[in-house]
Amino acid sequence: MPHEFDTSYATDPWLTLCKNYPDSSVYPAADFRVEWGPVFHRGRLDGTARVVVIGQDPGQHESIGRRILIGEAGQRVQGFLARLGIDKSYVMVNAFLYSVYGQSGGQKHKDDPGIVSYRNQWLDPLLLNKKVQAVIALGALADRAYQAWSATQPVRAGQLAYQHITHPTQPISAGKGKPAAIAALTKTMLQNWNAALTQLHAAIKNPDRVRALVPYGSSFKPGDDVAIPEMDMPAGTPAWMRSVDAWATRSGATAAAKRATVVITVPKNAREW
Ligand code: URA
Repeated sequence: MPHEFDTSYATDPWLTLCKNYPDSSVYPAADFRVEWGPVFHRGRLDGTARVVVIGQDPGQHESIGRRILIGEAGQRVQGFLARLGIDKSYVMVNAFLYSVYGQSGGQKHKDDPGIVSYRNQWLDPLLLNKKVQAVIALGALADRAYQAWSATQPVRAGQLAYQHITHPTQPISAGKGKPAAIAALTKTMLQNWNAALTQLHAAIKNPDRVRALVPYGSSFKPGDDVAIPEMDMPAGTPAWMRSVDAWATRSGATAAAKRATVVITVPKNAREW
C-alpha cells in the first residue's frame, strides 16, 4: 500500500517562508532551543483547511518529527478536532518557531517584533483564506499570537469563530507530578474544552465528517487521544512516530547535557525484530 506524506513546502508562500526563517538574532539562544531548528507547521497548506490551530512551541517529539503538535499535546488536539468532525481539513502553527527554554522565555519574547512579524506572514495566508471558519488557540501565548494577528486584520478576524482553550498539557505541567492535582486540572480543562466544542461545532459548517457532538467526560478515556495522520508527516516517517506512545525524552546529568540530548526509543509494540 503506497504511503502518504506531506509535500507542502514546495510552493509559495511556504517555500519562501521556509527558506527565510528567523535565526538566533530574533530568537535568542538563551530562551529558545535554536540548536534544534525551527519547526514550522502541521496539516494542510493547500487552502483546504477549515480550522486553524495555534499552539505554543515545539517539544522534543516535534524537534525530531519536524512537524508541530505530534506528541501528547498533538494527540489530544487531534482527538479534539475529531469531535468536531475535522479529520484532515486543519492546519496548525505555533506561536514560537523554536522550543522555549526555561520558564519565562515565552512570556519575555511574546511581543518581540521579529517573532510577531514572521508569524503573521504565516497567519495571513492561512487565515485570509475564506475556507477557514474557526481558529483555536492553545493556551495564553497562542491567544496572544492570535490577538496580535487580529489587530492587523480586524475585518477578517470578525468573520472567524475563535476559541482560546486551555493548553492540552497544562494539567501535566501545572500538576507537577501529583496525580490528584493532575486529575483535578484535567477535569477543569475538559470542562473548558467542552464549552469551546459547543461553540465550534455550531460554527463549522461543512466538516470532513458530520458528527454529533460527544462531550469529554471528567478524565481522558481510551480513544480520546488520536494518532497523527500519515499525510501530515515528512516522507518515510515510521508509524510509531505518529502513535500515541511517547518515544522521545530529554536526558542528561546537567542542564547543558539535557538541552543537548534527546533519547529516542522505539516503542515495544513497534519492534518487528
Ligand atoms: N505543544 C504545542 O503547543 N506545540 C507543539 O508543537 C508541541 C507541544
